[in-house]
Amino acid sequence: MKLVLPNTQYKDSFLEAMRKHKASGEPDGLFDEHTEQWFEERFDDWLETLAMYRSGHDLPEDKVQSTQWWVIKNGKWLGRVSLRHELNEHLMHYGGHLGYYLIPEARGKGVGTWAVQQVLEEAKKLGLKKLLVTCDTHNIVSQKVIQKFGGVHQDTIDSEMHGGPLMRWWIHV
Ligand SMILES: CC(C)(COP(=O)(O)OP(=O)(O)OC[C@H]1O[C@@H](n2cnc3c(N)ncnc32)[C@H](O)[C@@H]1OP(=O)(O)O)[C@@H](O)C(=O)NCCC(=O)NCCS
Repeated sequence: MKLVLPNTQYKDSFLEAMRKHKASGEPDGLFDEHTEQWFEERFDDWLETLAMYRSGHDLPEDKVQSTQWWVIKNGKWLGRVSLRHELNEHLMHYGGHLGYYLIPEARGKGVGTWAVQQVLEEAKKLGLKKLLVTCDTHNIVSQKVIQKFGGVHQDTIDSEMHGGPLMRWWIHV
């Protein structure tokens, strides 16, 4: 298993995951941002946008530098982990530093724990001391992942952006 930066090599596998995701009706910020057709047609442009976010240059005013990695096993796209390098007002109330998503068939096998561990190492390299993670009150698995890394529950807010109560946790890097 490995984490890679987004690249065209995994386009087909990514698109397959996206199609399954859309059919499932499950929410996820990454896939819900655009239609299937958009991803198919604009894949390379989108990779360039992700590279721009990684570099932190020429970002829209309301965005911060961020890195997304893809979880790959045997050439297959299993999910992604995202790290925002800093917080802004929006991220303080929804999103935080860390985001993760795995395709359903990859869940419950330790992959999420492994991926978060890798990203904590990356966060350390960036000099980040603690990471904010936000999560739905019903998302028990995500809470377990957070707790595995010593997450401290700060509060649960009524988040308009999330559309309901949202837990805010801090993980010390
Ligand atoms: C959240 C997510 C990344 C976790 O990754 P994962 O690989 O499924 O989790 P792991 O297998 O590493 O398990 C982490 C912990 O949750 C527990 N767990 C996993 N699946 C579980 C389930 N279905 N029910 C209860 N506990 C479960 C594991 O036992 C483990 O805890 P333990 O070490 O104390 O036993 C993944 O499930 C996912 O993508 N879910 C959908 C998207 C999502 O919720 N993203 C987060 C938004 S905040």
